[in-house]
Amino acid sequence: MTVRVLFVCLGNICRSPMAEAIFQRLVDEAGLSDAIEVDSAGTSSYHVGERAHPGTRRVLAHHGIKYEGKARQIRSEDTRNGMVYLIAMDSENVVELRRRFGDLPNIHRLLDFATNTSVHDVPDPYYSDNFDYVYRLVEDGCRGLLQAIRANEGV
Ligand code: 4NP
Repeated sequence: MTVRVLFVCLGNICRSPMAEAIFQRLVDEAGLSDAIEVDSAGTSSYHVGERAHPGTRRVLAHHGIKYEGKARQIRSEDTRNGMVYLIAMDSENVVELRRRFGDLPNIHRLLDFATNTSVHDVPDPYYSDNFDYVYRLVEDGCRGLLQAIRANEGV
C-alpha cells in the first residue's frame, strides 16, 4: 500500500512546500518514490493557486531542488483513504487540523522527528524572512520522519 505524507502549514507557500520538496528528494534518493506519495496543503485559503514564496524558492534552488507546486487548501479527502501522515509545521496547525477533522491518530509535528534541535514548531518565515534557518530545521525533521516511516510501515 502506498503511504501518503501531507505536509501542512497555514498558507502553503513557505514552510509546507519547502518540506514537501525536501522530503520528495529524500524519498527519491532512497528509491521509495513508488511507495511514498508526498504533497502539501494549507489550513487557510489565503494563497490558493499561488507559487511558493520567493524565499522558499530561493533556498530550495540554492540546494538544487526544483519546486513547481501551487498552494491549495487542505480538504477532508486528504485525511481519509489509506495510510496518511499529516505532518504539521507548528502547534497552531495541529489545533486547526483537529478542530476541522477531529482527533485523527496520524497528526504529528514535523520537528518531533528532528534530532538536532530542541525547537518543536517551525517558525513562520513569512514574517521573519528566516528561510535558511527554516530550511535547516525542516531538513532535520524530514530526515527523521523518513526513518520513522520506514520503520513503522516497513518500506
Ligand atoms: P506558511 O507561511 O504558513 O509557512 O505558508 C505563511 C504564509 C502566509 C501567511 C502566513 C504564513 N499569511 O498570513 O498570509
